[in-house]
Amino acid sequence: MATRWGICSAGRISHDFTVALKTLPAQDHQVVAVAARKLEDAQEFAKKHSISRAYGSYEELARDPDIDVVYIGVIHPHHLSTCLLFTNAKKNVLCEKPLAMNAKEVQEILASAKRNNVFLMEAVWTRFFPTSVEIRRLLAQEEVGEVKMVRSEFGAPLMHVPRSVQKELGGGAVLDLGIYCLQFITMVYNGEKPECIQATGVCLETGVDETVVVTLKFSKNRMAVFTCSSGLQLPNDAIIVGTKGTIRVPSNMWCPTSLVVNGKETQYSLPEPYLPLNFVNSTGMRYEAEEVRQCLLKGLKESPVMSHSDSLLLAEMEDEIRRQVGVVYSQDCQ
Ligand SMILES: NC(=O)c1ccc[n+]([C@@H]2O[C@H](COP(=O)([O-])OP(=O)(O)OC[C@H]3O[C@@H](n4cnc5c(N)ncnc54)[C@H](OP(=O)(O)O)[C@@H]3O)[C@@H](O)[C@H]2O)c1
Repeated sequence: MATRWGICSAGRISHDFTVALKTLPAQDHQVVAVAARKLEDAQEFAKKHSISRAYGSYEELARDPDIDVVYIGVIHPHHLSTCLLFTNAKKNVLCEKPLAMNAKEVQEILASAKRNNVFLMEAVWTRFFPTSVEIRRLLAQEEVGEVKMVRSEFGAPLMHVPRSVQKELGGGAVLDLGIYCLQFITMVYNGEKPECIQATGVCLETGVDETVVVTLKFSKNRMAVFTCSSGLQLPNDAIIVGTKGTIRVPSNMWCPTSLVVNGKETQYSLPEPYLPLNFVNSTGMRYEAEEVRQCLLKGLKESPVMSHSDSLLLAEMEDEIRRQVGVVYSQDCQ
């Protein structure tokens, strides 16, 4: 039986996710419906992607009995209310990153998923790329010895994108880009909470962070450092340094197609999209979609690879970094 997807929002990432889904076998994944705030947007999206049902409200999608899981691609200030809408309607959910604006909101979402006994995962797609699977295998087998340092960066010039710069749209580099560096670091350090976080950054006049540099210290004198920026194009690679060697993820570290282990590079190709994409390598979202299918088939309520505690840890670290850099969203004051 195919996993029946509902797509919530007709925006840029929803387009790419739908294209990614269609690179998977049709007997495994079907897009059944799309919902947008405006019916015309949903209808246009449905036409473009040959989806049979289009709804002019998210509530109608929540009431559709033929949906196994909803993909939420709305901007992050609306993740909380949208996640709650679907979890309370007993729908399984894959929600775009960041799961919410802060740890308090993440806790609310996780509690609602548990209460309603539904599956929920933050769409940290990088974790499911073949390169990430290989990194976890290499680390488990201690191929580079004991890891002592992780370095990562994600920077792109996004000053022209309203949702990157405006506070009420959830702007800020840490929540949008830094999260990829943080998830990489916490994946390598196996979900461990850092002993110490030191962050410094530059903010825009809108009150959101533009460029942030963070150092993290973990137990047993293990370190990490990352830079994120919505103003600058950075090299965007990531490196794991162990006592016996290194693993490098060449750009783009959030959607990688190659891995360099002790100097030896291996390529991992992605399928071609059937329509032009808004973001780089988006057909790689197929791996997180397949993870959702496998979890649902097993009756799991969270993914062991991107668990609820992983999402909470990310949100807590993002809160602490924003506190040190001085970025406060209205959601922090509620
Ligand atoms: N995984 C990735 O690689 C990746 C890449 C980009 C973005 N993202 C994440 O995906 C989410 C959406 O990003 P995007 O670039 O796709 O954004 P977008 O196209 O600007 O907006 C996505 C949708 O959010 C809703 N929306 C936009 N502005 C709104 C407002 N002022 N009030 C209420 N709803 C609003 C709209 O839904 P309707 O269509 O229903 O009107 C819109 O289509 C973000 O949380 C982002 O972090 C992930």
